[in-house]
Amino acid sequence: MIERIQQIQTDIDAYHFDEKHQAENFRLFYLSKKGIITELFEDFKSCSVEEKKSLGSVLNQLKKSAENKYTEQKELEESQKELNQTAEDISLPVYQFAEGSLHPLRIVEDRLLEIFYSLGFDVSEGPEIEDDYHNFGALNFAEDHPARDMQDTFFIAEHVLRTHTSSVQIREMEKGKLPLRLVMPGRVYRNEAVSARSNCFFHQIEGLYIDKGVSFADLKQTLYYFVQQFFGKGTRVRFRSSYFPFTEPSAEMDIWAGLDTEENRRLTKGTGWLEVLGCGMVHPNVLKSCNIDPEEYSGFAFGMGIDRITMLKYGITDIRDFFINDIRMFKQFAGV
Ligand code: PHE
Repeated sequence: MIERIQQIQTDIDAYHFDEKHQAENFRLFYLSKKGIITELFEDFKSCSVEEKKSLGSVLNQLKKSAENKYTEQKELEESQKELNQTAEDISLPVYQFAEGSLHPLRIVEDRLLEIFYSLGFDVSEGPEIEDDYHNFGALNFAEDHPARDMQDTFFIAEHVLRTHTSSVQIREMEKGKLPLRLVMPGRVYRNEAVSARSNCFFHQIEGLYIDKGVSFADLKQTLYYFVQQFFGKGTRVRFRSSYFPFTEPSAEMDIWAGLDTEENRRLTKGTGWLEVLGCGMVHPNVLKSCNIDPEEYSGFAFGMGIDRITMLKYGITDIRDFFINDIRMFKQFAGV
């Protein structure tokens, strides 16, 4: 009997499954009621006690290995069946779908963040509904500053819709962790008549860098780098002195657009220079209102309109086009 068992074991080890020899055939042949192994167990019953001792474990071993081989194959066949049911028919024609695009303002915001990330800036955001203190007071606006007037600002009870992202500067400096190197994008609101050139809401990105020994040269170099990356290598820039209550000195930065086309002449009012952003060294009063010692720390800030530079970059002439959701406009940005 032992030889038979060994022979069957060899057969089982060599058993090859294929289309004709599937798990079920194997089971019928070896393990079913009329299967070879079941038969062996029948024979085993009539063996002598001596024989039983030596054959028992070999026989059990045989049954086990047949069962293992069977379940393994059975599982394989089932998972293949499942796969066949769910597998896609690759011969079917594909659905036609229109390629979507990011909104042009998002495309530009992403690009701006990428440029400033590469300079080690992190990103932060603040609330659009602000209090007077964060939007004006802490930024060194005088009590009677015209921006606080109903003409320019939307008021909601005791609050304002922030008129610029500079409020986020204050929120970040208040946290008391220095140095700070941040860009802060977001939506801002102004109570202005809507036209091709101005909207009652638009988007800004604010920059802030506070550390020991930050100078105006750092500001210029950072913004110069940004312009080269965003508007292209060789773009000329100029800084004009300006005024903001929260920076001293303050400047506006222009890029050279040239006088070539009539369109540009209109954009640049005949100067060839395009205004891109406002900037300056953070005013000592602003640092003080955030508990930062202006003797120890200094910093620069800048703020630019994302809508504005998107219009410049892509030659969009009406700011309202960003918000009327005309698919024909957005389609042009697919893949940009
Ligand atoms: N907050 C200013 C504006 O809205 C821009 C600005 C930001 C200027 C930071 C200087 C420094 O016009």
